[in-house]
Amino acid sequence: MKVAIVGISGAVGQELLRILEERNFPVEELALFGSSRSAGKTYTFRGTSIKVKQLQHNDDFKGIDIAFVSAGGSTSLEFSETITKHGTIMIDNSSAFRMYDDVPLVVPEVNPEDALNRPRGIIANPNCTTIQMVVALKAIEDITHIRKVHVATYQAASGAGAAAMRELENQYKQIVNGEKPTIEKFPYQLAFNLIPQVDVFTENGYTKEELKMHNETRKIMHSNIEVSATCVRVPVMRAHSEATWIETERSVPVEEAREAFAKAEGVVLMDNPDKKEYPMPLDVTGKDEVYVGRIRKDLTNDKGLTFWTVSDQIRKGAALNAIQIAEYLLK
Ligand code: HSE
Repeated sequence: MKVAIVGISGAVGQELLRILEERNFPVEELALFGSSRSAGKTYTFRGTSIKVKQLQHNDDFKGIDIAFVSAGGSTSLEFSETITKHGTIMIDNSSAFRMYDDVPLVVPEVNPEDALNRPRGIIANPNCTTIQMVVALKAIEDITHIRKVHVATYQAASGAGAAAMRELENQYKQIVNGEKPTIEKFPYQLAFNLIPQVDVFTENGYTKEELKMHNETRKIMHSNIEVSATCVRVPVMRAHSEATWIETERSVPVEEAREAFAKAEGVVLMDNPDKKEYPMPLDVTGKDEVYVGRIRKDLTNDKGLTFWTVSDQIRKGAALNAIQIAEYLLK
């Protein structure tokens, strides 16, 4: 395979490079692309140093089989034609194309075959919060239909990018040294705080991030499922957590739910309240799976079940999911 990564210097670009190497993805040739700022820098892949090219409207993608694109929505919109015009498959991490009817939105554990129908040559990678949730929901949907979801997210700084992670770390240092914390990447100080806003507000009072969870989940699961989300930024580095409440068509006993999670693809069950065992962001950082714990019946509704998920937002929430899509195409 001839492979390209677009947006190599970002947190997701860097993780894509690492995972291609780790999983021994069949790369014959790797091309790296970035903005004019990162052009000329070099990165090492399997011992070889590769120079970053500036992304331009030319024929650089001719002969490239798969391009992993993680450079922001406006870049994806501007360059999708340049990238796909010679037959390159573009796996896009931005939200630009996710809801287009002719662009599949894919989580390999849930709807892998959707990736086969891609008239534009584009496959969209969902938002991290959605990916994490649908991997867990699939386990239950396989035993009974899920009608409704209420979810509260606890989202790490990494979701806002590498510079945001540095800002959070700096805020702690600045505050400890008695300095005023720098606030550029988040709407407020995040250190010693949390912010009940991820992305911008829409007219109905939900944020864009919250609406993504509703819309993307329905598209991926091919379902009329209703999702109401509250998305919150917390001072955690790179794994998102979600407290999820679901209402199912038939009542699901806790033991049956545990069994379903235990055997679900891409899920690790970590649910042992007696021993204080449940997933936490620090432990799940760097892991591939979605960890599920705190499974219990909802006290207010016999058809309600609640659980807690944690997943590394840069891996399964972004880079790993994109590479798993490519692996599925190679099967
Ligand atoms: N939009 C998410 C966040 C990142 O801000 O945490 C998902 O890729």
